[in-house]
Amino acid sequence: MPSDLAIGIHDLSFRTTSLVLSHTELARRNGTDIAKYHKGIGQRAMSLPTADEDIVTMASAAAAPLVQRHGTDRVRTVVLATESSIDQSKAAGIYVHSLLGMPPNVRVVEVKQACYGATAALQFAAGLVHRDPQQQVLVIASDISRYDLGSPGEATQGAAAAAMLVSAEPALLELTGPSGLFTSDVMDFWRPNYRTTALVNGKESVAAYLEAVQGAWRDYHVRGGLPLEEFRAFCYHQPYTRLAFKAHRQLLETCGAQADEEALDHAVAATTGYNETVGNSYTASMYLALTALLDSPDDLTGRTLGLFSYGSGSVAEFFAGRVRAGYKAHLRGAAHQEAVGKRRAIGYEAYRELRERTLPTDGGWYELPHQTQGPYRLAALRDHQRIYEAA
Ligand code: HMG
Repeated sequence: MPSDLAIGIHDLSFRTTSLVLSHTELARRNGTDIAKYHKGIGQRAMSLPTADEDIVTMASAAAAPLVQRHGTDRVRTVVLATESSIDQSKAAGIYVHSLLGMPPNVRVVEVKQACYGATAALQFAAGLVHRDPQQQVLVIASDISRYDLGSPGEATQGAAAAAMLVSAEPALLELTGPSGLFTSDVMDFWRPNYRTTALVNGKESVAAYLEAVQGAWRDYHVRGGLPLEEFRAFCYHQPYTRLAFKAHRQLLETCGAQADEEALDHAVAATTGYNETVGNSYTASMYLALTALLDSPDDLTGRTLGLFSYGSGSVAEFFAGRVRAGYKAHLRGAAHQEAVGKRRAIGYEAYRELRERTLPTDGGWYELPHQTQGPYRLAALRDHQRIYEAA
């Protein structure tokens, strides 16, 4: 195997749900100063699923354009990362594999470590491609974030799926150099199996995240990573977009560099556009930041990007990628804008109704109303099984 083989992200696509609640509407009803949402946490709206949308329908919608463009002949592995799992045993990716009409000679697995899972999946994928450069790996991150009503986390909810095709000689981003890793046993955010909403120590989670930025960067540096000056921009995990700016301030201070507003904006501002209107999509969040950056008007050809992935609990990784020549011809900016722009705005009452709804657990036949605008839907429940269909 040639050691200088370029491996990375060949194609990248994201989709979100069909409904959206604006922070203006949330603030109007809970009495919060809207500036706290728009400026304090940097969020403007949150994606919400219809009754017939879940991580499988979002994941399939995100991955379908990749399958349409590249086919499935070279895809031998599908890895779906999520922390909104729908089954304790069966991998959600198997439903995606089926909905997308993929051939049987494929391995499909699900991975979990909070929001970090997709980066683990990406690294597994890169290893598989390194072993056999003819193969491609479909990596999907799909999540719906849900916090208790009235809790501080409520304003950071969201939903999206990002799908990536990982290959040799990638068209978009070549993964380069070492990874900086940082694991710490903290209870900053978690969700026991019996709960539908996450538990969170908000302030502790922010502190744990910022400590991980420092820890992962230091490890990256020790392992011979590139110096700060080599990076054009940084894609941070964005549970809310303001945290990306705080994270970069932390990184600059760790490096002893000037952390003024201009430096922060230059490195981070172009990465927040999708996340500020979609909300926290957990595993997909950092990849939506990367998508926003690549879709931005700047020409990033040959430039190095920093990627910081964080999953509560916690595991973090800092790694770098170099943008490939000709990458703009492969982007899907219009489709991403459409996915975000076509969501139906709902009011607070409708949001509360959605939140009160739960799927029956008695194993009976239960049809779901056709509400999604997406290409796949959860059509029914039967015998404790989920029945999906093309919409
Ligand atoms: P909070 O208590 O509602 O908000 O919780 P706050 O009082 O800390 O205010 C937030 C910011 O808004 C502050 O700015 C305020 O000053 C500002 P900061 O001090 O941070 O710079 N602010 C205002 N600004 C302008 N005008 C105003 C105004 N009022 C206040 N009028 C918290 C915030 C993030 C804790 C909460 O939303 C939460 O618990 N979120 C969920 C947890 C979370 O997102 N943690 C992030 C790190 S952990 C992580 O990223 C992992 C995760 O994605 C899960 C996973 O890995 O699976 C969550």
